[in-house]
Amino acid sequence: MHHKRLAFGLMGAMAAVATAESDVTQLTGETFNDFIKGNDLVLAEFFAPWCGHCKALAPEYEEAATTLKEKNIKLAKIDCVDEAELCKEHGIEGYPTLKVFRGLEQVSPYTGQRKAGGITSYMVKQSLPAVSVLTKDTVEDFKTADKVVLVAYIAADDKASNETFTSVADELRDTYLFGGVNDAAVAEAEGVKFPSIVLYKSFDEGKNVFAEKFDAEAIKSFASVAATPLVGEVGPETYAGYMSAGIPLAYIFAETPEEREELSKSLKPIAEKYKGKINFATIDASSFGSHAGNINLKTDKFPAFAIHDIEKNQKFPFDQEKELKEKDVAKFVDNFAAGKIEPSIKSEPIPETQDDAVYTVVAHTYNDIVLDDSKDVLVEFYAPWCGHCKALAPKYEELASLYVNSEFKDKIVIAKVDATNNDVPDEIQGFPTIKLYPAGDKKNPVTYSGARTVEDFVKFIEENGKYKATVKVPEPPVEETTSEEKKAEDEHDEL
Ligand SMILES: *[C@@H]1O[C@H](CO)[C@@H](O)[C@H](O)[C@H]1NC(C)=O
Repeated sequence: MHHKRLAFGLMGAMAAVATAESDVTQLTGETFNDFIKGNDLVLAEFFAPWCGHCKALAPEYEEAATTLKEKNIKLAKIDCVDEAELCKEHGIEGYPTLKVFRGLEQVSPYTGQRKAGGITSYMVKQSLPAVSVLTKDTVEDFKTADKVVLVAYIAADDKASNETFTSVADELRDTYLFGGVNDAAVAEAEGVKFPSIVLYKSFDEGKNVFAEKFDAEAIKSFASVAATPLVGEVGPETYAGYMSAGIPLAYIFAETPEEREELSKSLKPIAEKYKGKINFATIDASSFGSHAGNINLKTDKFPAFAIHDIEKNQKFPFDQEKELKEKDVAKFVDNFAAGKIEPSIKSEPIPETQDDAVYTVVAHTYNDIVLDDSKDVLVEFYAPWCGHCKALAPKYEELASLYVNSEFKDKIVIAKVDATNNDVPDEIQGFPTIKLYPAGDKKNPVTYSGARTVEDFVKFIEENGKYKATVKVPEPPVEETTSEEKKAEDEHDEL
């Protein structure tokens, strides 16, 4: 921090004084990596000078930094106005954002309170070993110390299992509590052999045992399955977990807590049968009823049941005119699991005419057009409300007309599909998403990540399409050079 910003005059001088007395280290793009590498545990605050929450946090953050200094836990801050590049690298989207760094590789979001005491206790906990070493006297209390607790039973000299378990614990320490025992008598009392892991939980069957060879991926997936309640609840905190679980999700929509409780009880045997294959969860239809539309259910008739095959993005709504009887739902789920139910397909009507150079695809024409093996097909997945999509539209139409008026008109199709009103098999993360489905290789679409200019699209189609088609793009107008602006900016920096 020393003389670098002296040019800022009085303000700079004041800031320098403030930092000199502070135990919070202000980092820049130049100092950040070395600082993180040089300290085992760092809490970093990414802030903006104008942000009110950041100002409120500042004195608390200072106080925590001073308390944590003696424990050698470092607190740092990064001004995202000055260090925009660095903040972008770290995916900062709001202020303040707090992250815990254990080196540059291991980063986790800070999920504690924003008070000095909260920060201190959270960070002290972070500094303790991820795995608590337990004895026969401490293991009993530990089993119920949190909703989900994992205890490894391993021999004292089994270094490999210890290391694997510890690495998982380091990674998931914010999610679960981890303990370890070396006492063979304790393991025997628990009914397990070395090495094993027992996951204790305050719901469903109470515990699950992992008795395979210790492997980090296997342990993580065991924990994820075992820690998911048989019938959970979909809400803002759990939704992302269900979406990334890698298995279908069966939704039970109901408006009142009593109804959800009752249905979760009556459908539990089905959830049990499909544990690890299909997740089951209730969802509050009075708050999240509109979400039913995403799974092709009507949004005004509850309770309702539907399965979402997340990987294939296929939806299987249970007939909403029927009551949710366990027997009927069980049969429906069995049929789903056996692949005997057709997914419901949401589609706009097939357009009667195609009036633009860009071909309008709907769900019902997706296979015929996009998967036409004889053509290279570029598809834009858009949403009607998406501003970037609207901005792209004229360029996209220009692009399409270049091919329509070329020798490649029967080989190249430029298409678009409204992915909010049509079920498409692709997983669409954001709008617009643009992919090329090459002729003869429809299983391997190539996602476009270049600039959204006609020239770059043409190059992309030439490079990735089967036909290596190329068309001439009319000369773009000469772009203004930005060096003047750049210079102005530099000067401004030096004021
Ligand atoms: C794992 O290894 C560490 C470091 O050697 C040791 O302190 C700890 O007791 C071991 N944990 C178990 C459960 O054996």
